[in-house]
Amino acid sequence: MHKDIKEILYAESEIKARVAEIGGALTDKYSAIADAGEPVVLVSVLRGAAIFMADLARATEIPLEMDYMALSSYGSGTKSSGVVKIEKDLTSSIEGKHVIIAEDILDSGLTLQFLLENLKSRKPKSIEVVTLLRKRTREQAHIDCAHIGFECPDEFIVGYGLDYAERYRNLPYIGILKPEVYE
Ligand code: IMP
Ligand code: MG
Repeated sequence: MHKDIKEILYAESEIKARVAEIGGALTDKYSAIADAGEPVVLVSVLRGAAIFMADLARATEIPLEMDYMALSSYGSGTKSSGVVKIEKDLTSSIEGKHVIIAEDILDSGLTLQFLLENLKSRKPKSIEVVTLLRKRTREQAHIDCAHIGFECPDEFIVGYGLDYAERYRNLPYIGILKPEVYE
C-alpha cells in the first residue's frame, strides 16, 4: 500500500467485479437499441473518470462511441468550489444519440448537475448517469444515477483515476488519503 494511504476501501479485484456488473447491465439495456442502429455514446468527464470509462467500455458488448469532456470544479484543494467550467467540450454532436455519462464520484453533485443540464440542452435521445462512487455526504444535489458502483464514506479518497493535486490517479485501488497529506 502507498505510504500516503490510510485505508484501502476498494481493492483492484472488487472494482473490476463491480465494473463488470455495470458493464453487463449496460449491455442488457442498450443491446437492442444499438442493434436497431441507434448510436450510443459513452461520455466521460476528464480527468478523474478516464480510467473508469476505459474499463467500463471494455466491460460492455454494445457498439459505442466514446467522447470526452473536461470540467473543473476543484482547485487543488479538497472542497468543491461550486463553480463548474467547461475546459474541453465534446468532439461530436450528441443530438439524437443515447448518452451514458461515466463519472468518477458524486460529492456535492454540482458537477453532474451542471453537466446534465448542459448536455440535455443538446437534444440527446436519452441520457443517463453512471457513477463509480457516491459519497455519503449530507449536502448533495439530487442526481438520478442509473448505476452507482460504490457508496463511499465522506472522506477524501484517491486512486483509480481520482487525484489529490494531480497525484495518486494511477493507484490501481481506491483508498482514503491520509489527512496530513492535505492539511
Ligand atoms: P462534485 O461537483 O462536488 O460532485 O464533485 C465532483 C468532482 O470532484 C469529481 O468528479 C472529482 O473530480 C472531485 N472529487 C470529489 N470528491 C473527491 C474525492 O474524495 N477525491 C478526489 N476527487 C474528488
Ligand atoms: Mg471528476
